[in-house]
Amino acid sequence: MESQNLSVGQVAAIIGLGIGAVLIIHGGDPLDSMGQGYPMWRKTGLIGAPARAVVCIIAGVTLLAMGWLYRLLFCPLELLRAPDDVGYIADDGRSRARAANDVRRRRKIGELPPVYPNGWYRVLDSHMLERGDVKNVSVLGEQVAVFRGQDGKAHVVDAYCPHLGANLAVGGRVVGDCLECPFHGWKFRGEDGKCVRIPYAEKVPEFAKVRRWPSCEVNGLILVWFHCDGEDPQWTVPEQHEITKGQWVYRGRTEHFINAHIEEIPENAADVAHLAHLHTPGIVSGVDLRYTNSKTWEFVRHDWKVHWEPEAEPNKHCSTMLVKHALTVFGRHWPLLDADVVARQVGPGVVFLVFDHGFLGQGLIMHCVTPVEPLLQCVSHTIFYQSNIPPLVPKFVLRAECIQFERDVMIWNNKKYVSKPLLVKEDSAILKHRRWFSQFYSDNSPRLHYQHDTLDF
Ligand code: FES
Ligand SMILES: [Fe+2]
Repeated sequence: MESQNLSVGQVAAIIGLGIGAVLIIHGGDPLDSMGQGYPMWRKTGLIGAPARAVVCIIAGVTLLAMGWLYRLLFCPLELLRAPDDVGYIADDGRSRARAANDVRRRRKIGELPPVYPNGWYRVLDSHMLERGDVKNVSVLGEQVAVFRGQDGKAHVVDAYCPHLGANLAVGGRVVGDCLECPFHGWKFRGEDGKCVRIPYAEKVPEFAKVRRWPSCEVNGLILVWFHCDGEDPQWTVPEQHEITKGQWVYRGRTEHFINAHIEEIPENAADVAHLAHLHTPGIVSGVDLRYTNSKTWEFVRHDWKVHWEPEAEPNKHCSTMLVKHALTVFGRHWPLLDADVVARQVGPGVVFLVFDHGFLGQGLIMHCVTPVEPLLQCVSHTIFYQSNIPPLVPKFVLRAECIQFERDVMIWNNKKYVSKPLLVKEDSAILKHRRWFSQFYSDNSPRLHYQHDTLDF
């Protein structure tokens, strides 16, 4: 989508330059078809080449402004942050990348739970994978090739070819419902990973196959199932019917990479107390926690009422957070901006944030956390909203949510996991959350084996 947005700007600039070129090539004064010239332009001396240059610039700027306005009003919002973009303090003349690296290197690992819980994880949004496309994705410390067969079905297989290790997603080709390796042309079927053709061999051995990951496509997302013991999926990710029926449509997405253990991210839902501190300053005061409490913006406040509960059987892999949001400006409550949100977590990596708002309409943000490495999480928010509500509204909702989320990112990026936290009675939901989350770990769940390499003498 970003490339689409760019192309609108590029088209505007090209048209502007085109008009400019026509004007420059044109012999006479472009504003004077009768050859007389406008008296005003003659008076100010804006005739000939300078006049044409001014007209070009105005045309170019106007078209760029129109392109920008078009993007703002009609295109989905795409906010893709690089791993060092948010939440690191780059002082002493250091670059942000250097600051991020320092924080990661110095991070105290502590006693961590296993790093890859069992569950469903997003690998891509559906619209990012056309028929015949193949993409390389890093997930759970592995490289996978995600491809869409010509029949429209998406598949996920190990990226490295079992023959001689070429990456199937780098130069590999989708043929029918198979993926053909770019190195020697072995062809693997998406459905079961079986090799169906070796171009130079008489017979394909029975054992020739690439590992296939159980996957599904729902609510505009492609997800894979991970279980440390290779067990089959133990639950499904529910379908949101408004999306399937086209009543709620895609309006944008954000992507962040977070330097934290996966469990720290959903734990936020049960950490009720942080809302009244971290998320109370108005979104106008930004995301940098050094300045969010500045006096300038303290007249805008968000108020939150939150309740978190795990669900009972047969949905014990789910939990629900009910959120009531109110906005006050100079102490006055603005009921039109009140919002009720139901955040339903399904397994360790997927949350449905459903907005139901009398004035701003209804919609859903799919919040997904996918471990890339043991302590690096890719978090995406993909918004679907009522198709009859102007795109500007869901884009604002997503932007506002993103600002609040990036405050959490700054905390997560710099904190450590505390296995035995110092809690008060009012924090009790945090322990409840830890007990609930532990169902996603098994005896064989992978752990991070930390090598202690400090300069201790
Ligand atoms: S490495 Fe894939 S076919 Fe040889
Ligand atoms: Fe938060």
